[in-house]
Amino acid sequence: MSLLRIEHLDKAFGRLLVTRDINLDIAAGERHVIIGPNGAGKTTLLNQIGGQLTPNSGRILIDGVDVTRLAPEQRARAGLARTFQKNTLFQRLSVFENVRLGVQARIGGTFDLFTAARGKPDIEARTLATLEQMGLQKLGDEILANLSYGDQRQVEVAAALAGDPRLLLLDEPTSGLSPVETRRMIEIIKSLPRHMGLLVIEHDMEVVFSIADRITVLYYGAVLASGKPDDVANDPRVREVYLGARPSNAEH
Ligand SMILES: Nc1ncnc2c1ncn2[C@@H]1O[C@H](COP(=O)(O)OP(=O)(O)O)[C@@H](O)[C@H]1O
Ligand SMILES: [Mg+2]
Repeated sequence: MSLLRIEHLDKAFGRLLVTRDINLDIAAGERHVIIGPNGAGKTTLLNQIGGQLTPNSGRILIDGVDVTRLAPEQRARAGLARTFQKNTLFQRLSVFENVRLGVQARIGGTFDLFTAARGKPDIEARTLATLEQMGLQKLGDEILANLSYGDQRQVEVAAALAGDPRLLLLDEPTSGLSPVETRRMIEIIKSLPRHMGLLVIEHDMEVVFSIADRITVLYYGAVLASGKPDDVANDPRVREVYLGARPSNAEH
C-alpha cells in the first residue's frame, strides 16, 4: 500500500485551474522530489496534501486512509509534517522551544508552552535527540530571531522532523541559502531516517538529483512526467521545459 496516494486531484482559484487531475503514489521510505517552473502549482499541491487547502475534487490518502477533508492538525497526528516555502517559526522563542512545538504537533493536545511541556520528559528527550541529530544542540537556547537565515531553515526542518513523521513535506528547503548552507541542507536531507517518506519541492537541480529516488515534473498544474531520475531527465518533454538544466555531475 502507498504511504501517500493522490487520485484525480483538481484545484482551481476562481477560473484558474492550478491542479489538473494529479495522480501520484509515494511508497514508504521513498524520497520524491517535485520540480516545475514558477507558478506550476507545486506549493498548491503541497498545501492540499498538508491540509492548508481543500481540493475541488479528487482524493488524498495516507496509508490508505482518506485525509482529503481532515484538518492539518489531524494529518499531523496521522504522521504528516511539513515546512513552508517561507520561514514560519516563532521568532521570539528559542530553538529548543520551536523544535519542541514540532514534537507536540505530532502528539496533539494543547500547545500552551508553559504548561503542556512541563513534566513531560518524553517530549524534552525527543526535542534534544532531534537537535543532536541535526547538529543544532549548541543553538538550543538561542532566540530564533538571532540566528542566520540558513540556521533558521535548519531549525524549521528540525521542528518538522521532531515528531518523527511518516511523511515529511519540504517546500524549497534550500531557497535563499548560500552554497555552503545548501550543501549542509543536502546532507541533512540525506541523513534523514530511511523509513521516512519525503516529498520535497526543489528548484536546485544539484539538490534534486542528489536526493531523489523519483521525480515528478509539474507543468501548468499537471504531471508532465514522473519516474526515476534518469528517465525523467531524458524525457524529451521535460528537456523542452528544462533545457540543459541537469548538471553533468549529478549524483543519484
Ligand atoms: N491563494 C491563491 N489565490 C489565487 N491564485 C493563487 C493562490 N495561490 C497560488 N495561486 C496561483 O496558482 C498558481 C500556482 O501557484 P503555486 O502553487 O504557488 O506555484 P509554484 O509553487 O509551483 O511556484 C500560480 O499561478 C499562482 O499565482
Ligand atoms: Mg512554490
